[in-house]
Formats: sequence, C-alpha cells, structure tokens
Amino acid sequence: MAVPIVTTRAALREALAGERPGFVPTLGALHAGHEALIRQAAAENARTVVSIFVNPTQFQNPADLARYPRDLGHDAELAAGSGADLIFAPDVGEMYPPGADTTVEVGSLTHPWEGASRPGHFRGVATVVTILLNLVHPARSYFGEKDYQQLRVVQRLHADLALPGTIVACPTVREPDGLALSSRNARLSVAGRWQAAAVPRTLRQMRDQVAAGTHDAEELLRAGRNELQQAPDLSVDYLAVVDGDTLEPIPTVVPGARALVAVVLDGVRLIDNVALAPVPQEQGKEPHGAHD
Ligand code: PAF
Repeated sequence: MAVPIVTTRAALREALAGERPGFVPTLGALHAGHEALIRQAAAENARTVVSIFVNPTQFQNPADLARYPRDLGHDAELAAGSGADLIFAPDVGEMYPPGADTTVEVGSLTHPWEGASRPGHFRGVATVVTILLNLVHPARSYFGEKDYQQLRVVQRLHADLALPGTIVACPTVREPDGLALSSRNARLSVAGRWQAAAVPRTLRQMRDQVAAGTHDAEELLRAGRNELQQAPDLSVDYLAVVDGDTLEPIPTVVPGARALVAVVLDGVRLIDNVALAPVPQEQGKEPHGAHD
C-alpha cells in the first residue's frame, strides 16, 4: 500500500490541515526498531507521520554522512506497512534554507558519553528535532530508549522550549541474541556480529547482579568490563553506571539507575543501555507533559 510522500514544509502543512498526528522522526534506513515505533504511533493516533531526513548537522564525520544508507522506496514501504499515513522526506535545503543560522544547544545532558565522543552531535539533533516538532506539531512523538542519552536530551529540550505534544519513550527492540537493532549492525563482519552479542550480554549480567543484591557501581563495572573483554576485537569507549535522569555517574545503584555502553567493533560504533533498577511509579521522571 503506497503512502503519500511530501517533501516541502508547505506540502506538509497542507496535508496535515491542522490535524495533530503521531510522529516518528527518523534518519531513514528503517528497520524493525522503527517499525515498532511506527506501529505504536499508529495504534495511539488517528494519523501517523514519519519523517525521513539524513540530518547532516548531527554527523561529525563526512564519510559517515556519505555512506549513511538512503533508500526512500524501501523506507516508504516499511513505514506504510507499519501503519504510517504520511511521509515527510525533505531535502537539506528545505530543512536548512539559505541563511538558516540558528542552532539549539541543550546543556549538561549533552556533555558526557556520546556528547564527549561526538562533539556537536546533540546540537544537530536538538536543532532538527525542534524544527521537526514545530513543523509537524504532533500530539505525540515517539523516540526509542536505545538512544537513551538522545531520549533524555529530547525530553529536556521538549520541556524547556515548550515544544508541542508529548514525548513517548519506547522500549529497545532486540535481535534474538539481545543485540539492539540499529542500521549500523549491517556494517558488522560475520565475526564482528558474533562478538557484538557481548554488549547486551554485559548489560544483562549487570542488571542480574543488581537484582541479586550488588549495588556497588565499581564492582558492576569491573565485571562488565571483563565480560566485554571476552570479545577480542571490541574496544570500549565507555561503560558507566549513571543516574537515569541526569546521566551523571553514581557510585551506588539507586532506583532509576542505568548502565550505558558504547563500543567500537569493525570500525562501527555500537551503543546500548539498560535500566539497572526500576523507578517506582510514584517517583516518575520529570513531567514531560503536552505543550501546545
Ligand atoms: O534517532 C534518530 O533517528 C535521529 O537522531 C533523529 C531523532 C531522527 C534526529 O535526526
């Protein structure tokens, strides 16, 4: 089933005719993880918009940007099959018209982890998400927990700039061996793909150790690093136990704590995370309510 594709701001506005849809922003190269986001959006909204835009401002490395897979036909088919009603696929000039000179900078949440390894990345993400939410004016926007730091940055941005709608956090979709779905997985060699399973195995082990009563972060990290070392070609960028709200390292696991990890295998950067101890319902996170 074909789904309409619009490429300009004006055509998007006309197609939406003031309606507040569910919204799934993407970089394209859609896979089953995106499919889950789109299905959830379609189940919770009368209409679902998917954006497909390879945002150049969030890539630091021009080679990474150049080799990012682009296949609008495949993406449109997957989006339509998952329940999308409209695709917004602008080009760079439409998103950043000549003279565009404004960026959006989120504070401390963007400094560590991915922010430290990829300077400017979150500025690019925050800027494009701000533009997209203002253009689509969604009732709800769907972001995966797989990119946990991005999710926290978007929640902060959304609250601070009173961006429209609600941010919905969606669980990570995994392969049978636990590897989190990512468009980057396709770039792993056979051996690399096999070794990549060490990443979710390490996170599961840390979560299980917490459930068994270990709350000391250093002890968890020591065991975690040992587990990652079982994969000989994998190099660890970071493995951390953090507060799930502030993303600051913590010495002892408390409710809401998360383990974050980034590794490089076959020159491919893989990130993942897990909740180490659930947040009691009433404590919740900061209110990420709807804005108009
Ligand atoms: O997670 C992504 O796919 C991108 O960072 C996003 C949120 C679509 C912004 O370009």
